[in-house]
Amino acid sequence: MNTQASLSDLIRQTVEAVRQEEEQGIESLYLPAGLDGALPLPERTRSARSGRPAQPAGAGRPAGYAQPAGAGRPAGARRADQANQPNQPVQSVQSAQSAQSAQVTSLEALYAKYHRCTACALGFTRKHFVFGTGNEHADVMFVGEAPGAQEDEQGQPFVGQAGKLLTRILNAIDFTRDEVYITNILKCRPPNNRDPMPEEVDACDAILKEQIRLVRPRLICALGRVAAQALLKENSSIRALRGRFHDYHGIKLLVTYHPSGLLRNAAYKRPTWEDVQMLRKEYDRIVQSDVQATPGAEVS
Ligand code: URA
Ligand code: URA
Repeated sequence: MNTQASLSDLIRQTVEAVRQEEEQGIESLYLPAGLDGALPLPERTRSARSGRPAQPAGAGRPAGYAQPAGAGRPAGARRADQANQPNQPVQSVQSAQSAQSAQVTSLEALYAKYHRCTACALGFTRKHFVFGTGNEHADVMFVGEAPGAQEDEQGQPFVGQAGKLLTRILNAIDFTRDEVYITNILKCRPPNNRDPMPEEVDACDAILKEQIRLVRPRLICALGRVAAQALLKENSSIRALRGRFHDYHGIKLLVTYHPSGLLRNAAYKRPTWEDVQMLRKEYDRIVQSDVQATPGAEVS
């Protein structure tokens, strides 16, 4: 057997082993050590950057409603939205759309407005409406595709295997999950993790737009093809879209590979690492120019 073949066999086997372990609830191991070395993600600690400007009050503290559904919440309360679902009046597409026009002023109110949404069929099969998590005033927002099984279970975005890799990528560029904002194009899980359908993306669009309006990120990172295409209204591949900033209604938007793509294909690691370093650099540049701007310089 040649080296190439045995290496890819090894990678496939280890990824499969990790997947099985995770299915069995073994959470800590999510990237095999061999692959780990192939992904140049230096572990950096927050304390290494103590010189950065102070966080705004409340930064880094996820809003209560966005806390992991299981964490700190009694099991009985966990499925409040689901438990109510069968008897809830069906929120029609029309009412979801008109909800859009009545401006909400907080993420909490936005969550309250939509968490029982049945504007598309996924509202009837989900366990949890997976809204978003992190800093309500984040400068950087990460947008994935849709909740998977674990996210659907827990009501939190990116908590499964891909989520753990996302957390590590964030840490590697010296962000924590709590200081950025993390959400998805779709808030409800497509059965069997199939790709979102265009009508589902359309039905969910208003929620993400509102999240972006309320969080007001300076940078958006689209994770994967579905997020990139939905946000940029483009059909191009990740390969074509990544590596540069796009304009999303005045917000700089970077496209990179989805963490689950990285778990399948080690060749995506290098470009992803380049992309997230570009994101970090731009964030540092923005923070730096904010610091340099004198308070009196604001145009009134
Ligand atoms: N620090 C913040 O306050 N927000 C971000 O989005 C990232 C770092
Ligand atoms: N994949 C996504 O795109 N989003 C999640 O929340 C989890 C996995």
